[in-house]
Amino acid sequence: AALDLEQLRASIRTVPDFPKPGIQFRDITTLLSEPAALRTSVSLLADMARDQGATVIAGMEARGFIFGAAVAIHAGLGFVPIRKPGKLPVETIGVDYALEYGTDRLELDPSALAPGARVALVDDLIATGGTALAAAELVKLTGAHVAGALFVVDLPDLGGSTRLRDADIPVHSLVSFD
Ligand code: PRP
Ligand code: HPA
Repeated sequence: AALDLEQLRASIRTVPDFPKPGIQFRDITTLLSEPAALRTSVSLLADMARDQGATVIAGMEARGFIFGAAVAIHAGLGFVPIRKPGKLPVETIGVDYALEYGTDRLELDPSALAPGARVALVDDLIATGGTALAAAELVKLTGAHVAGALFVVDLPDLGGSTRLRDADIPVHSLVSFD
């Protein structure tokens, strides 16, 4: 049976002081290992992707691959990986971004997206929104449209979901932690 959102929230583990002191790390490992929690989160995200009119799912390496590919299969759509640098064997486009801790870069094979594509971005969690904004920028560089951004977890105090909405990107998350 499907879980309700409170049960889904309870399936996520909180690890204090990771990766550094003072950070309460919301860890989806425990959600992934619980069949009903995994199935419920994928099913709800797939419903949201359909509601956003998505024609393709894009997921951000690495945890966005877990949910993104599952959501794509559930919604009957294809999946496009948005990768960490140096992984794709073809000419890529790239965007640098700031993370909650550190900096990173995302790359995309632009030929993987048709120009008229409507892309739903999927990731496990949004914190500062740096990852999702970089992914949205990459999608727009190809000429495709960002239909929305979908997350299992929102950390609203870190401001990412607000930054996305300010950039006119529809955002949906299943659970949030203050
Ligand atoms: C985490 C998470 C999101 C991102 C959220 O990934 O999976 O992709 O950070 O943070 P932001 O909203 O502040 O950008 P991470 O970069 O740790 O990589 P991983 O998925 O490879 O563990
Ligand atoms: N949990 C998991 N991933 C994250 C977090 C967190 O609290 N913050 C940034 N990425």
